[in-house]
Amino acid sequence: MNNLLIFLVLLLVPLRSAGKGFADILEDLQVQEGDEFELLDWPSWESARGNKVLVNVDAFGAVGDGVSDDTQAFVNAWKQACSIPKSVLLVPQGRRYLVNATRFKGPCADKLVIQIEGTIVAPDEPKDWDPKSMRSWLSFYNLTKALFQGNGVIDGSGQKWWAASCKKNKSNPCKGAPSAVTIDSSSAVRVKGLTFQNSQQMNFVIARSNSVRVMDVKVSAPEDSPNTDGIHITDSTNVVLQNCKIGTGDDCISIVNGSSSIKMKNIYCGPGHGISIGSLGKDNSTGIVEKVVLDKAFLRGTTNGLRIKTWQGGSGYVRAVRYQDVRMDDVSNPIIIDQFYCDSPKTCQNQTSAVEISQIMYRNITGTSKSEKAMKFACSDTVPCTHIILNNINLQRSDGTVETFCNSAVGIGYGYVQPSAECLSSSDKDIIIIQKKEEEIAQSSTEHLIHTEL
Ligand SMILES: *[C@@H]1O[C@H](CO)[C@@H](O)[C@H](O)[C@H]1NC(C)=O
Ligand SMILES: *[C@@H]1O[C@H](CO)[C@@H](O)[C@H](O)[C@H]1NC(C)=O
Ligand SMILES: *[C@@H]1O[C@H](CO)[C@@H](O)[C@H](O)[C@H]1NC(C)=O
Ligand SMILES: *[C@@H]1O[C@H](CO)[C@@H](O)[C@H](O)[C@H]1NC(C)=O
Ligand SMILES: *[C@@H]1O[C@H](CO)[C@@H](O)[C@H](O)[C@H]1NC(C)=O
Ligand SMILES: *[C@@H]1O[C@H](CO)[C@@H](O)[C@H](O)[C@H]1NC(C)=O
Ligand SMILES: *[C@@H]1O[C@H](CO)[C@@H](O)[C@H](O)[C@H]1NC(C)=O
Repeated sequence: MNNLLIFLVLLLVPLRSAGKGFADILEDLQVQEGDEFELLDWPSWESARGNKVLVNVDAFGAVGDGVSDDTQAFVNAWKQACSIPKSVLLVPQGRRYLVNATRFKGPCADKLVIQIEGTIVAPDEPKDWDPKSMRSWLSFYNLTKALFQGNGVIDGSGQKWWAASCKKNKSNPCKGAPSAVTIDSSSAVRVKGLTFQNSQQMNFVIARSNSVRVMDVKVSAPEDSPNTDGIHITDSTNVVLQNCKIGTGDDCISIVNGSSSIKMKNIYCGPGHGISIGSLGKDNSTGIVEKVVLDKAFLRGTTNGLRIKTWQGGSGYVRAVRYQDVRMDDVSNPIIIDQFYCDSPKTCQNQTSAVEISQIMYRNITGTSKSEKAMKFACSDTVPCTHIILNNINLQRSDGTVETFCNSAVGIGYGYVQPSAECLSSSDKDIIIIQKKEEEIAQSSTEHLIHTEL
């Protein structure tokens, strides 16, 4: 792996150049793991202590009994760690630190490590929550080159927030709850090994940031906890999520407006609402998401699999998305594009404007569907989905047949596609491109079929 900062996205090649069709371009779509983080050469905080300044929250008076308020100790420890180069802010193992809503601000001195081995727990009573931070518990703002790591747990104690949600009880007012952890307006941040659980609302948010790499992270919240997205990416670029195991009450991963060059690799999702782009376009807003790759995922028992959801009346676009090597077990809507998304108590009127969806490739997607419509392309009548490509799809149902639903969807399938993609209408250009591909396949050996690894 070279150390390019850039994410090489071959889509920059004009679509019609050099005889390359969009199908080839999508196959080649690469979101390279720009590994500038490796250049930072983090010494292990345990072995290279000589070189590091250890800032232990206990030294600032944190008690860690799960009852005492450790907020001020964390704030003071942060001030110290943030101001000294090469420091390690340590949250020790075996204890529970109760911390209120806090914004940990940068910029910090170089190479800050936040080593979380113990548990950080939120106060559980919504009534006592600081009204100034209603939407956020622990937020990390304006960091450059920081590493969060450890075997610790970040626990939002969300039970009472969930009970107060209008999704749980219609007589509750609909108001938001805090996101547990937010990385905000930061760059070159790496998050490794941590567990996020029982967040008040979203578990882990990456917002307004660039170059964020998340690996070996676990997210866990009950299947019926409302709006507890696992990892939420908004207004961020060059984000890699790798080896993440997510089980929660909403989307395992959600990617929303202003996000591009997002790569997800080796993702386990379940329970949850699947891996989503969107929602986008709510209240006639502009939504833009592009260059997204999902490579190797396993979804089990989720309500959706690979989902793109947009509201009527929006504008903007979702384009250049590739999903590949995905296995689904017992998923209700394995492949779904829903341009009529309406997560509202009122019905949403159809409108002429919509977020435009194009260049979406699904390759090597197998498994079982809980519903009959294993593939659903519900696209706007006025703004059709275009350039949808299906290649090597095998979705079955144990107790019945499966089918594909299409509304205003243009695209094509090649190779084995089950259920059949016949309801997609195809443009002449798509057909020529796919015919060429099928000729190539016929000419090549079977080994040759397994090519173009990312
Ligand atoms: C964010 O950090 C940069 C330095 O990295 C600094 O110049 C800027 O003032 C900070 N912004 C805020 C709002 O604190
Ligand atoms: C934490 O929140 C509680 C409850 O609102 C409050 O009494 C306490 O003063 C807060 N602690 C700090 C350090 O702000
Ligand atoms: C819903 O909330 C109302 C008012 O707070 C309460 O009386 C009712 O018992 C709740 N219902 C359930 C099912 O929790
Ligand atoms: C969506 O993102 C674009 C570009 O980042 C921005 O111009 C637009 O205001 C955003 N829309 C919303 C609803 O935030
Ligand atoms: C969105 O636009 C439609 C059509 O112009 C309009 O009827 C509707 O009120 C708008 N909705 C919002 C939330 O602005
Ligand atoms: C298809 O995806 C599965 C994972 O879901 C993977 O094990 C398999 O090797 C892939 N097949 C090909 C031909 O790439
Ligand atoms: C919106 O349009 C879709 C597709 O034509 C149609 O199935 C749906 O019933 C319409 N919804 C409303 C609320 O009119």
